[in-house]
Amino acid sequence: MKETINKTYEIDIQVSPVSSVNTVDFENLSFGKIFTDHMFEANYRDGRWQDCTIKPLTTLQLHPATSALHYGQAVFEGMKAFNNLEGKPRIFRPDMNLKRLNQSCERMAIPEVPEELFMDAIFNLVRIDANWIPDTNDGSLYIRPLIFATDDFVGIKPSDTFKLIIFCCPVSKYYQKPVRVYIQEEYIRAFPGGTGGVKAAGNYGATMMPLRTIREKGYDQMLWIDGVTHNRLQEIGTMNVFVQIGDAVITIPTDEGTILEGITRDSCIELLKEAGYPVEIRDVTIQELLNAHKAGILADAFGTGTAATVAPIGTIGYKDNNYELPPVETRKMSNWLKQEMWEIRKGVKEDRFGWMWEV
Ligand code: COI
Repeated sequence: MKETINKTYEIDIQVSPVSSVNTVDFENLSFGKIFTDHMFEANYRDGRWQDCTIKPLTTLQLHPATSALHYGQAVFEGMKAFNNLEGKPRIFRPDMNLKRLNQSCERMAIPEVPEELFMDAIFNLVRIDANWIPDTNDGSLYIRPLIFATDDFVGIKPSDTFKLIIFCCPVSKYYQKPVRVYIQEEYIRAFPGGTGGVKAAGNYGATMMPLRTIREKGYDQMLWIDGVTHNRLQEIGTMNVFVQIGDAVITIPTDEGTILEGITRDSCIELLKEAGYPVEIRDVTIQELLNAHKAGILADAFGTGTAATVAPIGTIGYKDNNYELPPVETRKMSNWLKQEMWEIRKGVKEDRFGWMWEV
């Protein structure tokens, strides 16, 4: 089957003769370990994206000098498809993912992905693997686009060739329990002028060693601080951060370019504004956070992200102390946001923001 996209791109669609969907326990999904039957692949060479294919999921064969493996010229995205309560598949804000993907591409000297190519790739892939979208309460189909440099060249220069891959995983909750985060001052995730504001693969690679050390101490993720003052909260790596101090809900500004502009973050800000809650977009220092905890007014703290959706923070570790947050059941803000997001995604509430795109 051939599909012509705006007469410019053609996707060669090869449907798998077999499916492993019946082997999956959709009630017990762990994040990112199960993959659907198909994948999308395209190559960039001679100044354009070509060889667009949807085919049975398979491994990649790469030259050992593939430059992305050495120098990290690679970006990715995370997005989700949901079945509404009538079983209709819809994708959450794919326009925002494309915008962010292309911002990441720009920063990493990777060619942009044209809108019609991206949308047709995503929508065809999700259509073909639609029976993989979980119908469970917390289930969704996580869609992972990635682009990496494929020049077989050991010198340092922007690659001339790239590969775009899109694959999907049926997933449930990313965090099963309230997240235990740790604030440390030694390692820094991103600096002004760096790549922290985009979804570059290397942003994550550089966090693995500090992450390993805090995971050994029982924490899940780092709550990163900035590299200039070593005092301002930034993000969690898998999530943006929100805190509620008294009545004020606060999230950290992204304009310094060190924090990923989360699409779930943006959605939560929209929902909060619509409901008339005061959202403050401003810096929060470690001291302000700990003082609020001491004064008993740190009512809520949570992360937002595509994979995690809205995930309450249970514990904040700093130096040798653990600061425990109120029980999750008592948290008004994160519970309300989670429910609002769920109702829009499942079609219980009207999609008044135009976030859900029918597949
Ligand atoms: C996402 O939320 O989509 C992310 O990319 C975070 C993580 C799974 C790497």
